[in-house]
Amino acid sequence: MRILYVVGTRPNFVKTAPVIGALRERHPEGRHAIVHTGQHYDRLMSEVFLEELGVPAPDHMLEVGSGSHAAQTARTMERLEPVLTEERPDLVMVPGDVNSTLAAALTAVKMGIPVAHIESGLRSFDMTMPEEVNRIVADRFSQWLFLHSDEGVENLRAEGVPDERMHMVGNTMIDSLVALGDRIRAASSAERLGVEPGSYVLVTLHRPALVDGPLLGETVAQLAALSREIPVVFPVHPRTRKMMEGFEPEAPGLLLTDPLGYLDFLSLVADARAVLTDSGGIQEETTYLGIPCFTLRDNTERPVTIRAGTNTLLGLDPAAIAGIPAALTERGDATSEPPPLWDGRAAERIADVILA
Ligand code: UD1
Repeated sequence: MRILYVVGTRPNFVKTAPVIGALRERHPEGRHAIVHTGQHYDRLMSEVFLEELGVPAPDHMLEVGSGSHAAQTARTMERLEPVLTEERPDLVMVPGDVNSTLAAALTAVKMGIPVAHIESGLRSFDMTMPEEVNRIVADRFSQWLFLHSDEGVENLRAEGVPDERMHMVGNTMIDSLVALGDRIRAASSAERLGVEPGSYVLVTLHRPALVDGPLLGETVAQLAALSREIPVVFPVHPRTRKMMEGFEPEAPGLLLTDPLGYLDFLSLVADARAVLTDSGGIQEETTYLGIPCFTLRDNTERPVTIRAGTNTLLGLDPAAIAGIPAALTERGDATSEPPPLWDGRAAERIADVILA
């Protein structure tokens, strides 16, 4: 069997690395071709992740880079098509919900190549999010839908997807976390950054709805205020860094850093008192690790993380950040359980389904 995996961004690498590993191990005689679209290209956004996650060197680099949604998607499709012609895969695997995912699913289905979607069935019901459009398209055109939570089944059934296409396998992002657990613990990033484990709030912000407009300035002002009560560590995504030029705050308790590699970042999550984010994947990683997460969005496509008790939706409202210390006091040492099948073995289940 010839399988082709298309990845392009930081979270794609985390979700796909265990699947490539499991399929290569169980089907060594097959062709396992990796295509890196180049949607993320800075060393800290790409190479470091591939190295740490043990992803083999990609067979094809499309180098599409940044651009408008149309430009980035179109460039990916144009450059992927000849690769699919050359590789003649029996199956194209796409993870998540980024523009690379959309472009790859669309290109493959138009060439009559079956598609498998890792992390299928998530819905925010908010079409202003680019990711919502991307995941709907990827699900619609995929023959194999790999799910990690029950609400995905309901969402897909409501769209008329037959049950035979759905496979509840668990969460491959958590597979990476489990597989690299020892190295994550050994990274001790908090100590290296000079913050005490268990004492700080870790922040990530990168969604256009938050960082591309006036809310970013209000959010950074709130973070500066929060940092007077509790230390704040904020690794800044390149998109956010660009938008923050000119108003970086002076606050001794607020530590801004470059984007971090996978091991350093997950080490900081595991040692945080709490996480404040607008990311999707981080809502899941904190749920697995039992770390309180405050999500600065109006909705989430991952309600399972709220039911698990770790995630709180703050709304797209920077003023809500001021309530975090009180919420943490109220929460105390509450514990939580990860959702079913978030156990480090999702990729093996995917391999079982594909090879059957
Ligand atoms: C993309 C995904 C988002 C995902 C995120 C994870 C889409 C529509 N968005 O958002 O769903 O949560 O990745 O990080 O696919 N840039 C760099 N260096 C890089 C990459 C980006 O400087 O290596 C800068 C560029 O200025 C670029 C901007 O970041 O214009 C945005 O990059 P882009 O890939 O368009 O979207 P992300 O915000 O990274």
